[in-house]
Amino acid sequence: MMHALDEHRPAWNKRPMSNDAFRSKYGPYALIAGAAVGLGAEYSRQIAARGLRLVMIDRDPGPLAATADAIRKQHGVEVRTLDIDLARPDVGERVLADTAGLEIGLVVYNAAIGTVAPFLETTPQLDDAAIDVNCRGPLRLVHAFAPAMVARGRGGVILMSSMSGNFGSTQLAVYAATKAFTLVFGDALWSELTPLGVDVLVVQPGSTRTPGWLSSQPSEPGGEIMPAADPAEVVREALATLGVEPRVIPGDANRQGAELLAQLPRRQAVEMMSQITAKLVRNDRPRIGR
Ligand SMILES: NC(=O)c1ccc[n+]([C@@H]2O[C@H](COP(=O)([O-])OP(=O)(O)OC[C@H]3O[C@@H](n4cnc5c(N)ncnc54)[C@H](OP(=O)(O)O)[C@@H]3O)[C@@H](O)[C@H]2O)c1
Repeated sequence: MMHALDEHRPAWNKRPMSNDAFRSKYGPYALIAGAAVGLGAEYSRQIAARGLRLVMIDRDPGPLAATADAIRKQHGVEVRTLDIDLARPDVGERVLADTAGLEIGLVVYNAAIGTVAPFLETTPQLDDAAIDVNCRGPLRLVHAFAPAMVARGRGGVILMSSMSGNFGSTQLAVYAATKAFTLVFGDALWSELTPLGVDVLVVQPGSTRTPGWLSSQPSEPGGEIMPAADPAEVVREALATLGVEPRVIPGDANRQGAELLAQLPRRQAVEMMSQITAKLVRNDRPRIGR
């Protein structure tokens, strides 16, 4: 008998893709933007494990080089690194120029500015940075690389949204709004590019244990750290869903939570999101600018 949740389980459970098929569809190079640590580093590792060559972009050259070296050693694939600030207005042209001659078959846009603070405590500079990195960055990189994928009739794009992209929440006004942008942008890309052979996936993780997420948690000894998903699990679900669905919320509990929220009147859903944010983030330790 089918459990109620099974109906909503993403189709990736039913149709695993072999590494050879993944490489033919999305290789030979994958480009990961925001790749030095956390989910971006995990995407890089799992994509390299499938045999693709990598171009890893980040603004932290030290951690970027260390992650790239470890991947070369472990997976024996070619890994190039680009030290680029994804907030640059010319990010599309710049990355295209720096990857000239490489066949990029998969773009993963992972980087984000995740300021967690009351709206009146953020600054115009932080708000602009979030819009530059979270909205303009993916838009420009998709503009830069999707035309060649369409010309080849194959390829993939993965965009990182968040469960906060579904409803606004206290302390997340700008971040959540940029993640709603990603969600709707990704829906439209999925609709336009899938018939042309290019798969598009928007990923909406819940709390995931990365350096960015940990920076919003208590640092003092004995401080309670909230439960959070393993980045490896999130990326595994994302890669298994690419080419199957337009969107994935990794983790059964997160999927159930999103379904419950979607059934509430908007006012109640926003209040509940705000309560969840207050629990997940220490009010006395707002995370400004990450
Ligand atoms: N972790 C979670 O709980 C969670 C939940 C929902 C959604 N997400 C989404 O998942 C993605 C990954 O988030 P994360 O917090 O987990 O981050 P992460 O994977 O730990 O790291 C993101 C990487 O991107 C880099 N980056 C940020 N801004 C950049 C810029 N302007 N130019 C170049 N590189 C830049 C970061 O460098 P710096 O270290 O210098 O900033 C960092 O190395 C984000 O899109 C986020 O919104 C995460």
